[in-house]
This record gives sequence, structure tokens and C-alpha cells, in this order.
Amino acid sequence: MNPNVKELVELVFRWAHFIAGIMWIGNSMLFNWLDRNLEKKAGDPELRIGTMWMVHSGGFYEVEKKHLAPGEMPPILHWFKWQSYITWMTGIALLLLVYYATEGMLADPAIASLTPTEAMEVGLGSIFGGFALYEILWRTPLAKISWLATLLSFCILAGAVYGLTHLLSGRAAYIHVGAMIGTCMSGNVFFHIIPSQRELVRATLAGEKQNPAIGQFAKQRSIHNNYLTFPLLFLMISNHFPSTYGSSVNWLILAVLIVGGAGVRHFMNIRYNPSPTWIPGAIGTGAVAAGIVLVLFMHPPGAKPVVATANAPYVSFAQVNLVIGQRCRPCHSATPKDPTIPVAPAGVMFDTPEQIQMRKERIQARAVVSKTMPQNNKTGITEDERNLIAQWLAEGAPIDK
Ligand code: HEC
Repeated sequence: MNPNVKELVELVFRWAHFIAGIMWIGNSMLFNWLDRNLEKKAGDPELRIGTMWMVHSGGFYEVEKKHLAPGEMPPILHWFKWQSYITWMTGIALLLLVYYATEGMLADPAIASLTPTEAMEVGLGSIFGGFALYEILWRTPLAKISWLATLLSFCILAGAVYGLTHLLSGRAAYIHVGAMIGTCMSGNVFFHIIPSQRELVRATLAGEKQNPAIGQFAKQRSIHNNYLTFPLLFLMISNHFPSTYGSSVNWLILAVLIVGGAGVRHFMNIRYNPSPTWIPGAIGTGAVAAGIVLVLFMHPPGAKPVVATANAPYVSFAQVNLVIGQRCRPCHSATPKDPTIPVAPAGVMFDTPEQIQMRKERIQARAVVSKTMPQNNKTGITEDERNLIAQWLAEGAPIDK
């Protein structure tokens, strides 16, 4: 595909993905919050589940949640499903476009030597295989022992995290874990939550008693989505954090952030209703803090100067410029030579000495510390060349000789 067309298509999909995702998560957070804050008073009608008042947008809202009497149905009923489906569809489209239709984005020879086809099989297999395992697990009688099924689900997820980070490039591994979680969440909406709401409407219209088991089954999936939201949101933006996916313990960092994200969500769920279950929330919050400390410990931000190796030969700008010209400039230039790169990625160009010196901190962070540049080492930078850049940075990144 022509790179300019590809960039445009990606822009449209990403924008739509972002909007639909915000609408989906926003709705789901609001409904969760409503459910937690509804008030039920003694003497309320039997069908009433709870009520609440809110002030917003220049007026007062009185919200009542209730069951309907058999046969009763309002003429207009609003459903919430397309936000989820569109988020999933645009997400998969983006994944295919950015990772599968762009050479060198999935596999990383430094991690595992996979052919492009094998890398695709690992990627797609993990998303749909992970979803299938999750579905099967929660349809077995094990699902009744929820702590055990939850623990097993976490083990499946942790296995996927470990496996993917040891087979694909760090960045691709993270986004595939995200796509797997997103597929489970959207699958929950499509296969369980919406069908249970349809059944609720059907039974009410037919004047039948509702089957509480169907609602409970869907509620379980809805709780899963609730806890998976924060980990997924991190994974969606994880490509902005090379210090996480680029770390040598990227699997551990991700596992900690998943537990931590779910823990923070738990804390938010129960904070109005203190109970002994605040402990997992506290553990989760602690896990996030530990995760962040771990990241900083493994990869101090680029600002910290690299210590020059004693007696190392002086590295001139001319030498560094040669390396950058060969290993970085094919992409990072006003006129990129890499046919898959239509414009300089992230607006970063290394065409002039000043442009290179100006970015010294980020060059250190990406090419020396986290080694996440060149992207998937497409241009084949060597360790010696990375050390050369490090030495030049340690000299203070001079550009005059
Ligand atoms: C094959 C193309 C390619 C090559 C070669 C490449 N990059 Fe990048 N670079 C990218 C892409 C794509 C992004 C945006 C995504 C990202 O940040 O991971 C990027 C982003 C960056 C950023 C901006 C983001 C940030 O973290 O500040 C810097 C700095 C960077 N690269 C440095 C380098 C250096 C230094 C080299 C050479 C050692 C290099 N790149 C080689 C494709 C490339």
C-alpha cells in the first residue's frame, strides 16, 4: 500500500478507535458509578432498584433503575453496544495495518528468530487462542468457584505475557496482550451482555418471569470487563513508554501493571463501601507503585549522564553522524529513505548536527538505554555502534569536531 494512503487510513482508524473507546469506557464507568451510588429506601415500590439525583449540563437529572412489570416496555429503549464493537473492529484493523502490513514490526531477531509468517501465527493465535481459553474456562463448572477461575484466568494472561514477550518484539508483545484483553472484553459484550439484555426484554414483553441466572452470568462478564479496563488502557498507550516494553524484564513489568491496574479499579469500586476487601486494592496500588519503581530502576530516564569509559578513545561527531546516518536517518529525516516511512516518525529528524544534538536525551533513552531504536533494529545497528553513541553522549555530545 502507498505509505501516504496507509498513513491516512491509519489516521481514520485510530481516530475512530479512540473516539469509540472513550465512549465505551466512559459509558461503562458511568453505569458502574451509578450502580454503586443508587439509593434504595424503605417503602420503595417493589420493582424499584434505586434512585439518585445528579446535577449536570444546566439541569437536574433524576435517575431511577428498576425492573419492568411483565408486558411493560417503553417505546424507545437505548442500547449501548456499538461503542464496544467499533472499538474492537477499528482496533483489529489498526493492528493489521500497523503490525501485520508493515515489515519488521512483529518479530525481533534479538528476541526470537521467527519468520514473518510464524510471527503472524503467534500474534493472531495469541489473541484468538487467549479468547477461546477464557471462554472455555468460564463456561466450565469451575466458573462457580470464582476465586479459582480468576486465578486460572490470571495464569493464562501471565502465560501470554511471558510467551509473547519472548517471541515478539516488546512493543508488539504488549499490544497483542492488549488486543487479547480487548477481544475478551468486546466478546463479553457481544456474546453475553447484549444477549442477556435481549433476553430480559423478550421475557418482559412476553410477560414471563425473568431468569436471574442469565443476568448473573452476564454480570460476571461485566465485572471482568470492569477490572480489565485499567490494564487495557495502559496497554493501548504502552507504545509511548519504551522503558516498559523495551526492558529486559518487560514481562514482569507488564504483569505488575496488570495486577496494579485491576487493583486500583477495585479500590475505586469499593471505596464508598469499606470492607475487608480493601486489601486487594491496597495491594494493587502498591503493585503499581512497585512497577513504576522497577521501571525507573531498570531504565533510569535518559537525563542521567552515561559515565564515560575510562581511557576510551575520543569519539568525534563525524563518527556518530556516520552511525546515525546509516542506522537512524533512513527513517528520521525530512526525506525518509525507508519506503514504509512516509514522514519522519514522531517528527524526529536527524538531518543536521543541531537536530541530532538537540535530541541527545532521547537518543540516549532509545538507542543506548532501552535499545528500542532503531525500530526492531531494522537498520542493523551493532552493540559497538551503540557504545560509540554512548561515549559521544558522555563527552557532552559535541558537534564541533
Ligand atoms: C525503521 C525506521 C526507524 C529507524 C531506522 C529508527 N527509528 Fe526512531 N522511530 C521510528 C518510529 C516508527 C518511531 C515512533 C514510534 C516510537 O516512538 O516507538 C520512532 C521514534 C523515535 C524517537 C521519538 C520518540 C521518543 O522516544 O522520544 C526517537 C528519539 C528516535 N526514534 C530515535 C531513533 C534513533 C536514535 C535511531 C537510530 C539509532 C532511530 N530512531 C532509528 C522509526 C525508526
